Amino acid sequence: MTVQTTPTTPISGQMPGTSGLRKKTRVFMEPHYLENFIQATFDAIGGGEGRRFVVGGDGRYFNSQAIQVIIRMAAANGAAEVIVGRDGILSTPAASNLIRMNKTDGGFILSASHNPGGIDEDFGVKFNGENGGPAPEKLTAKIFEATKSIAAYKIAVTHDIDLGTTGDTKLDDMLVRVVDPVADYQALMETLFDFDAIRTLFANGFTMRFDAMHAVTGPYARAILEDTLGAASGTVVNGTPLEDFGKGHPDPNPIWAKDLMNLMMSDAAPDLGAASDGDGDRNMIVGRGAYVTPSDSLAILAANAHLAPAYKDGLAGIARSMPTSAASDRVAEKLGIEAFETPTGWKFFGNLLDAGRVTICGEESAGTGSNHVREKDGLWAVLLWLNILAVRKQSVAEIVTDHWQTYGRDYYSRYDFENVPTEQANQLMTALRAKLAGLAGQTFADLQVTAADEFSYHDPVDGSVSENQGVRIYFAGGGRAVFRLSGTGTQGATLRLYLEQYSGLDGDINRDTQDALKDVRAAAYAVSDLTQVIDREEPDVIT
Ligand code: G6P
Ligand code: ZN
Repeated sequence: MTVQTTPTTPISGQMPGTSGLRKKTRVFMEPHYLENFIQATFDAIGGGEGRRFVVGGDGRYFNSQAIQVIIRMAAANGAAEVIVGRDGILSTPAASNLIRMNKTDGGFILSASHNPGGIDEDFGVKFNGENGGPAPEKLTAKIFEATKSIAAYKIAVTHDIDLGTTGDTKLDDMLVRVVDPVADYQALMETLFDFDAIRTLFANGFTMRFDAMHAVTGPYARAILEDTLGAASGTVVNGTPLEDFGKGHPDPNPIWAKDLMNLMMSDAAPDLGAASDGDGDRNMIVGRGAYVTPSDSLAILAANAHLAPAYKDGLAGIARSMPTSAASDRVAEKLGIEAFETPTGWKFFGNLLDAGRVTICGEESAGTGSNHVREKDGLWAVLLWLNILAVRKQSVAEIVTDHWQTYGRDYYSRYDFENVPTEQANQLMTALRAKLAGLAGQTFADLQVTAADEFSYHDPVDGSVSENQGVRIYFAGGGRAVFRLSGTGTQGATLRLYLEQYSGLDGDINRDTQDALKDVRAAAYAVSDLTQVIDREEPDVIT
C-alpha cells in the first residue's frame, strides 16, 4: 500500500451544523472536499494512529464512494481497524451501538438524515465520539478550525474494498471488518423489550404498517418486525434502501409520509402506523385516526417506559430540546425525577446520558431515544410503543387520550418557512432579540407576554455554555412561541416558529390543534412582524 500525501488548500464553509457537515452532494463530490473534512476530523481528534473506527451510512447516493475514501484515509492515517456495515449500510443508531459495543474511538456516519438524496440533493458526514454520540460543540469547533488551516491529507493508493460480503480483510496493517448491519442492533433491542409480549400481540391479530420510506430502516424493520416478531409479511413498506429514496423526502411527518397518514385516517387503517427517516433515527407514530405529535410521544413513552423490561426500575430523568413541548416536563414532575431543557441537537443529550442524569430524551423534530445508544432511534421508539401497547392492551388513541386526561394537553405545532433569504431571517431574529428585554407585560394580538428570553444552555455536567439557541416568548394562559433558525438546511435559511398552548388540567383536550393555537400564532406573528420582515404569511410546512 502506498500512502500519498496530497497537498490541498482550505475550503470555506466546512462548519458542522446541528448534525454534522451537510451540503449538496455535488459539493461533496468536488475535488478534495470530502478528503479535507475527513483529514480535519482526524487532526482534530489527535490523529488516526492505532485507532479504531466505525464507518457506515444511510445508503444515499455517494455513500459507497465516500466510504471507500474514508477507509483509504483511515489506513493512511495509521488506523488499526475500521468496522463497516455490509454494503456500506448502517442506520445512525446502529452505528452508535457498534461504536459502543466494540469500544472504538468513534465513527463516521454518512447521511443527510431526512433530507432527500441523489446527485442533486444532499449528502452529509458526521463524526461520533467513543460514547457513540455526535461530536460535542468543542470538537466540531476544533474540526472546523482544522479545515481552515489544512495543507495536505493522507490517503492510501489502493483498490476498493469489497463491502458486499461480511468478514475480515486487511488493508496493509489495518483490519477491515465488514459486519451485518442489523444483527447487533437487533440483539440490543431484544435485551430492552419484551419480544414475547409483542409476538403475542401480533399473533392475536394486531396489525401495523411501517413505512421505511425507501431509506435505511427497511432491512432492520423487516428483520425485527416481520421475521422475528411475527408481524404479517408486507407490514414493512418501501423497505429497500434506494440511493435517491425513490425521489422522496424521507422525513417521517404528516407531510412527507402522506400515504401512511392517509391510510391511518381511513377505514382500512391498521392498529399502528409508523415511519422512520433516511438514516433511521427519527420516528413517526400514528394510531388509527390519531397522529401522535413527537412531543406527546416523548411524554407518553416516558410515562409508560416502566412497562418495558429495560426501564422497569424507572427513569433517572427526562431531557427534551428547548422547542419541544412541556408535556414531558409534566411527566417528570409527576414521577419526581429531573427534567432538562437542552438546545436543539441530539449531541446536547450526550453528557446527561453519560452522567446517568437522564434515561429518556426527545425532540419535537421526531427524535426519541434512551441511554441504550447515544443517538435518537426510530425503531427503538416503535418497539417501545409496541411493548406498551402489548402490555396495556389499549389502542394508541385510548392511551393518548388517557395521557391528556391525566396531565392536560400541550397543543403543539411547528411552522417552517423555508428558503428565506438569510439576510431577512437574520433581520427577524436580530430585531426580536433587541426587543426581548422590554417584552414582558406588553400585549400582542390580545395576548400578554409573561416572559421572554434568548435560550442559552449551561451544561450541568461539563459546565459549557451554548448561547443564542432560540428566542422563547411565554404568554399569559399557558402559551409559548419559539423562534429559531434551522441548523440543518443546505439552502437559504429556514425559520422555525414553534407554537404551543397548554390546555390546563381541566381544560378542553379535544380541540383542533390549529384552532387551539390561533391566539398564540397571532401574537407570535405580531411580536415578530413576521409577515413584513420575511414577506410570507403561510409557512411552507406545518408539522
Ligand atoms: C437533526 C438533529 C436533531 C435536530 C434536528 C432539527 O435531526 O439530529 O437533533 O432536532 O436535526 O434541527 P434544525 O436545526 O434543522 O431545527
Ligand atoms: Zn435522521
